[in-house]
Amino acid sequence: MVYFIGAGPGDIELITVKGMKLLQKADVVIYTGSLVSGNILDYCKEGVTIYNSASMSLPEVIDAIQEGIDQGKMVVRLHTGDPSIYGAIREQMDELDKRGIDFEIIPGVSSFVAAASRVKAEFTLPGVSQTIIITRKEGRTGTSEGGKISELAKHRASMAIFLSVQSISQVVEELLEGYNENTPVAVVYKATWPEEKIIRGTLKDIAEKVGDEKINRHAQILVGDFMGSQYELSKLYDSSFSHMYRSGKE
Ligand SMILES: C[S@@+](CC[C@H](N)C(=O)[O-])C[C@H]1O[C@@H](n2cnc3c(N)ncnc32)[C@H](O)[C@@H]1O
Repeated sequence: MVYFIGAGPGDIELITVKGMKLLQKADVVIYTGSLVSGNILDYCKEGVTIYNSASMSLPEVIDAIQEGIDQGKMVVRLHTGDPSIYGAIREQMDELDKRGIDFEIIPGVSSFVAAASRVKAEFTLPGVSQTIIITRKEGRTGTSEGGKISELAKHRASMAIFLSVQSISQVVEELLEGYNENTPVAVVYKATWPEEKIIRGTLKDIAEKVGDEKINRHAQILVGDFMGSQYELSKLYDSSFSHMYRSGKE
């Protein structure tokens, strides 16, 4: 069996209990060394075979999985954050399907929610935004129609932008097509790692601040008024509001 496991954003205690237990039992682990903390491998048993996929191609990763399976071993493919977001797991799953190799996915804490926790924010605030957009600036990987940041900005939703901090000036330019320049922005570099940095600003000044800190990789760009001061209280905890579990008071 192959397990695709979300390792979480960095802090090795942020892997799920299920993920950790499987990692402890694994005979072969292929981990995304460019983004997953090597310390997480401390959970592994002695004698485990470890591959760092940072220097491997897709066929090499699949071959390593196949070899483990052929030897009756339990294989873990460890991805950063949650594997379903920019994890490039689809191409691996399709290849395993073709070969009749069974697999399961164990979700993880994605870096966008880890970043929100580090800036102590809630993406969905009544009267502000009930929508989260997860996106990235197109690079060598293109985008879908309607998926450009400049187009998405028009929704003025809460936004988490992956893989784009190296182009922060262009990202800001595109965001200004929808948001105003006073919109709060937080750039969270290596959320939950010991070297984490949080840079707060607005669309007006964030590019300069990020440039000053020389951050050009491994960061989340969070954008939106959910990091501002105005919002409405929730209906759920409103004392006059009745629902299935509670009767409201006049
Ligand atoms: C290939 S994607 C993988 C995303 C991952 N699957 C997830 O759910 O977080 C890599 C990008 O995720 C973001 N990222 C991953 N870990 C991060 C962290 N600890 N702090 C901030 N951003 C992170 C960065 O934008 C980075 O360039």
